[in-house]
Amino acid sequence: MTQNELKQQVAEAAIAFIDEDSILGIGTGSTVNCLIEALAASGKRIKAAVSSSEESTRRLQQIDIEVLDLNTAGSLDLYIDGADEFDANRYLIKGGGGALTREKIIAAAARRFICIVDQSKQVKVLGKFPLPVEVIPMARSMVARKLVALGGQPEWREGFITDNGNWILDVHNLDLVDAAGMERTLNNIPGVVTCGIFALRKPETILMSTASGTERF
Ligand code: 5RP
Repeated sequence: MTQNELKQQVAEAAIAFIDEDSILGIGTGSTVNCLIEALAASGKRIKAAVSSSEESTRRLQQIDIEVLDLNTAGSLDLYIDGADEFDANRYLIKGGGGALTREKIIAAAARRFICIVDQSKQVKVLGKFPLPVEVIPMARSMVARKLVALGGQPEWREGFITDNGNWILDVHNLDLVDAAGMERTLNNIPGVVTCGIFALRKPETILMSTASGTERF
C-alpha cells in the first residue's frame, strides 16, 4: 500500500466514530484531507464543523459543510486530527502543517479526541520529528535562545506565517522523555503561543493504518 492509501484507509475507518447531526472538530493535514474526502463519500451528514485551519475550512466548504467559529459551537463531542509522531502513551507531536495552536484549542474543547495516523508516525520516544513551536514574531530570537538553553536546536521556518499571524520555530534534538513536563516548560516561555507536544491533552484513541488493516490504541 502507498502512504496515501494508508491515509485513506484510516480516514475511512474514522468515519464510523462520527455521529450524524453532530458538530465535528476537524484538524489539518494530508490525513485529514483524506478524512474530509471520506466524509463526503460516506454520505453521512454532520450538522457543522469547527476547523483548525484556513485550508481545512476551504476543503470543508467545498463539500458543503458549514464551518462554525468555536465561540458559536461551544464544546464539541469529537475532534479528529492527524499527527507527526505518537508514542505508547498516546502523546503526540503535531504542527508539521503549522496549525498546532488552533489544533490544541479544538482538542481542549472536545470531549473526545481521535488521532488518525499511518504506521510511519509511531515512535518509541518523541522527538525525531523537529518540534514545532509557534511564537509571537517579536519574541523569535529570545525564545530561540531559551530553547537552546533547554538543549534544543531551533530552526526558523522562514517565510511561513501561521493562520494566527505568527512564526514557527522547529526545534531539533530536544529531550522529550518527560513530554508533559517539557510541554509545560515550553508553554511558559513568554512569546511562545504553544508548542506541538500534545501530552497534557492527549487523544483518547489512536487509529493507526498498516498494510494489514487499522489498529486501535
Ligand atoms: C498540522 C498537523 C498534522 O496533523 C500533522 O502535520 C500530520 O499531517 P499529515 O496528516 O499530512 O501527515 O499537526 O499542523
